[in-house]
Amino acid sequence: MSSNKGKHIWVIGASSGIGEALAQELASQGATLALSARRKDALQNIVKNLSGTGHISCPVDVSDINALQTTASDIKKKFERIDSVIFLAAIYSAHDKKKKDIGFMHKMLNVNVGGAFNVVETIAPIFETQGSGQIVLCGSVAGYRGLPYGQPYCATKAAIINYAESLKIELEPENIDVKLISPGFVRTPLTDKNDFPMPMMIEANDAAKAIARGITSGAFEIHFPKKFTFIMKTLRLLPTWLYFKISRQMKKKQ
Ligand SMILES: NC(=O)c1ccc[n+]([C@@H]2O[C@H](COP(=O)([O-])OP(=O)(O)OC[C@H]3O[C@@H](n4cnc5c(N)ncnc54)[C@H](OP(=O)(O)O)[C@@H]3O)[C@@H](O)[C@H]2O)c1
Repeated sequence: MSSNKGKHIWVIGASSGIGEALAQELASQGATLALSARRKDALQNIVKNLSGTGHISCPVDVSDINALQTTASDIKKKFERIDSVIFLAAIYSAHDKKKKDIGFMHKMLNVNVGGAFNVVETIAPIFETQGSGQIVLCGSVAGYRGLPYGQPYCATKAAIINYAESLKIELEPENIDVKLISPGFVRTPLTDKNDFPMPMMIEANDAAKAIARGITSGAFEIHFPKKFTFIMKTLRLLPTWLYFKISRQMKKKQ
């Protein structure tokens, strides 16, 4: 997409944090939005306060494929086309280091990864019929490598990175542009749960600006803040034995 002005964009995971800030940023740039998440009241309140007109609130649980398909067809009826879908929905828990909740681990997999599968399977046929479209999935630098005490969240984000890479090439012939968002630490209700230091943390509106710019660029990956993602990308390039050495030190500090 060359610009967000005049585009119809479906933001999923828009009821708080990065998604809410992104909705505000995209609306201020002249996009018309469909906003989804589970919390109906929060979405309606955000829609009410957006600049511009024509925005709609479409509450849905991404783990429910049937509900997503109904939502997508409702949006398609209201908007003449959908130009971009941005999948930001995720759940997270700052787990106790020793005792993990297996039920919540499966739920996280179901929302963070299963939700992405559901969204892509819902939107790809619509984009194929339209002749074009854009799918933006949100990973994390936490998915670059297995971080001590990072599971299962890191594993869900590693899956998103891998999935986006596959889709990028698979969907190119259909004229569907696939992008990956890789945030470092951003101040949101998700990171408010953490009790450990979060270096180079940025505000949600700065993350939103980077994403709004990134979806109009030619780059596959939208990553920020650059100084932090550079460090994380360097860790990704290290041989496993060296990464484990550094990782053991990181674990000792926690
Ligand atoms: N904040 C960071 O530092 C950071 C870093 C790296 C990556 N990320 C990623 O950035 C994205 C946005 O996170 P955030 O920090 O903005 O957190 P957040 O404020 O907790 O936002 C998460 C969003 O996902 C929605 N959601 C959760 N479960 C859902 C479900 N089953 N169906 C539909 N929507 C659901 C939530 O809304 P409801 O509760 O209303 O459903 C909310 O709108 C996530 O993918 C996260 O993993 C964040």
